[in-house]
Amino acid sequence: MPLARPIVFGNWKMHGLRADALALAGDLARRSARLSATLGVFPPATVLAEVARRVADTAILVGGQDCHDEPEGPYTGCISAPMLKDAGARAVILGHSERRHGFGESDELVCRKARAAIDAGLLVVLCIGETEEEWLAGRRFEVLARQLDGSLPANAGADSLVIAYEPVWAIGTGRIPELEDIRETHAWLRHQLSHRLADGAGTGLLYGGSVKAANAAEIMAQPEVDGVLVGGASLDAEEFWRIYTAGGGA
Ligand code: PGA
Repeated sequence: MPLARPIVFGNWKMHGLRADALALAGDLARRSARLSATLGVFPPATVLAEVARRVADTAILVGGQDCHDEPEGPYTGCISAPMLKDAGARAVILGHSERRHGFGESDELVCRKARAAIDAGLLVVLCIGETEEEWLAGRRFEVLARQLDGSLPANAGADSLVIAYEPVWAIGTGRIPELEDIRETHAWLRHQLSHRLADGAGTGLLYGGSVKAANAAEIMAQPEVDGVLVGGASLDAEEFWRIYTAGGGA
């Protein structure tokens, strides 16, 4: 079943010791006994199981921030997709720019991870986006096409995949593209997905990068923007909830 719109996901990144993570999850849980749309949090792996238990009575979705491309094996320090699932995750973020650029992850590796995650029954939140240099050089669509070519797994469908367009230069910087640019990119991405996937028209398409309560409504009002992937602003329950309601979620 397609996810209810708007889809608002919070990527906690490497933030959250147990007390903070559980307080944040508890605050969101209190607001979310029933949800009209889709709200998800992606806590660090160390607290994922506890956060999943804390929100178990709600419709809040919990996911991991990365996974290995093998289900198990001699890979010290790594976490597999079935392990995330076992800990209570329903989704996983893959191909985030902090992994692509910070850890040198290739499209091919992201694709293998995505395939493994879908095989394990997880929803993949596949991140793509151009760097500032690529943006300034007018190479946005070329880069996005390459990332889609290389990292979209063949087993993906609208039930197992959400795409997050995150311009690298907008992540954590307080800068966002002009609304017109977001509109143009998302229209282009929708067209691409419709050609590349059997149900590309129904695949969730998120914008990410410096989303906050103050700009969430106008971003989510753009055509083909099904929701947002939020980093920093998702660490504050009130701010994150305001983003969710700004998109029409209740
Ligand atoms: P930000 O991060 O909202 O802090 O810019 C977004 C992301 O990295 O997903």
